[in-house]
Amino acid sequence: MSHLPLPPTLPGGVLFGSGPEAVADPLGLYTRAQRTLGDVVRLRGVPGLYWYLITHPSGVEHVLKTRGRNYRKPDRFNAPVRALAGNGILAAEGDSWLQNRRLMQPAFHRQRLAGLVTQMAEASDAASERWEGVAAQGGTVDASEEMIRVTLRIVGTTMFSHDLSAEADALGAPIRTSLHWVSRRLTLPVTAPEWMPTAENRRFMADRSVVHSTVDAMIAERRRSGETRPDLLQMLLDARDADTGAGMDDVQVRHEALTLMLAGHETTAAALSWAWYLLARHPQALGQMREELDSVLGGRAPGMDDLARLPYTRAVFDETLRLYPPAWGQPRESIEEDEIGGYRIPAGKIVMVCQWVTHRRPDLWDRPDDFVPERFLGAGPGTFPPFAYYPFGGGARFCIGSSFALMEAQVILATLAQRFEVDLEPGQTIVPDATFTLRPKSGIRMRLRRRTPSRAPSVAPEPVRA
Ligand code: HEM
Repeated sequence: MSHLPLPPTLPGGVLFGSGPEAVADPLGLYTRAQRTLGDVVRLRGVPGLYWYLITHPSGVEHVLKTRGRNYRKPDRFNAPVRALAGNGILAAEGDSWLQNRRLMQPAFHRQRLAGLVTQMAEASDAASERWEGVAAQGGTVDASEEMIRVTLRIVGTTMFSHDLSAEADALGAPIRTSLHWVSRRLTLPVTAPEWMPTAENRRFMADRSVVHSTVDAMIAERRRSGETRPDLLQMLLDARDADTGAGMDDVQVRHEALTLMLAGHETTAAALSWAWYLLARHPQALGQMREELDSVLGGRAPGMDDLARLPYTRAVFDETLRLYPPAWGQPRESIEEDEIGGYRIPAGKIVMVCQWVTHRRPDLWDRPDDFVPERFLGAGPGTFPPFAYYPFGGGARFCIGSSFALMEAQVILATLAQRFEVDLEPGQTIVPDATFTLRPKSGIRMRLRRRTPSRAPSVAPEPVRA
């Protein structure tokens, strides 16, 4: 393979190459790299340090799936995640990852998830009550904070049978600052080592200990009560190693539980914030979604059987994930030398796939930057080339919670959009911040007004066969 050419290199500054732009504006940098140099691009940091950007669907499929074994999650990126959540499923590699994945997979089967829709609807109702109070006073909310609150509550009740709503406010801030710490370590080329008592590190340790003690209390409560519940926490507590018969100790259970708590609420919350933003800016799409909600639900809470009858609501969320993918890019490290798109990828290099760029490539998408939920109506396998759209990643590390997230999003949108008008507060500049997840940099302030669904509540429909 050594005879193959290296990919074209994006010119950058003499000393630090494209490094500063990769920190300040990665979305702009990677978009420009693809538009000017194509499907496989080499970028330079400090002299001698290169990384590779892959944005064509066939290259993405190659890295994540077909040759996935040759591309591991890089240690440099796993280390900060481990500092927060230990060697949980997100950061684990090799056998320990496989063991965790096998253990958790059954908890995420669609059939099992069906039983969780009621809890998702209850959490959405609680959000609706809060919004009611705000609307009555003509007030505003920050969509990001609201969505974090509701998704955190859902993760708590559905995965751990624990009502996190009492802790949600106290927990939201430490989770956010801990994730910010992780995210800075993922993006900045140089940061103080974890052991150094800088203000930032001390704050991280304090916040991490709040988060850990909340999870520890949840585990201790379950062990003490001796109760058995049909939830994920129970699966973790009951797990036994096939060879040794040993169970996980409380620290291991904490790491797995915390990983799911983090992976399971931030991403969905970010996507939902963007969905409100897009809906508020596209009244026609919001109107069409409301028509669907009014005629199917007529004001009542959605149940599992309703979800298949709300295709437009689902398309709104699918299109939101295209335009604002919360997991906007994933780094991998090549183990052996490889070839992608006719170019040589040396061993031991960071290879980045980037949803943000692929999802907006003009050669793949009609009106790539426009919000057009209709493109997902009736979309199924074969509608788009594989890996033209991959908000949940792909291959062995495909998001374990994708069905969970899609259900949750439909339930939350359906509940709140039926009951409230949302208007963006004027004068805000809303820009994406591409850190750990793709979030609105300074939140999204929305003014709320109560709305009455336009049809009488319909009778709960006959169940739809899967
Ligand atoms: C819209 C919401 C979500 C998005 C966009 C999303 C996206 C992703 C992506 C792209 C990956 C692959 C990362 C990689 O390959 O490096 C991933 C992995 C993962 N996600 Fe999600 N996710 C979402 C919601 C959830 C939820 C709700 C849960 C759990 C309840 C969850 C749990 C996980 C876990 C545990 C992994 C690691 C899987 C593994 O490595 O085996 N995610 N997610």
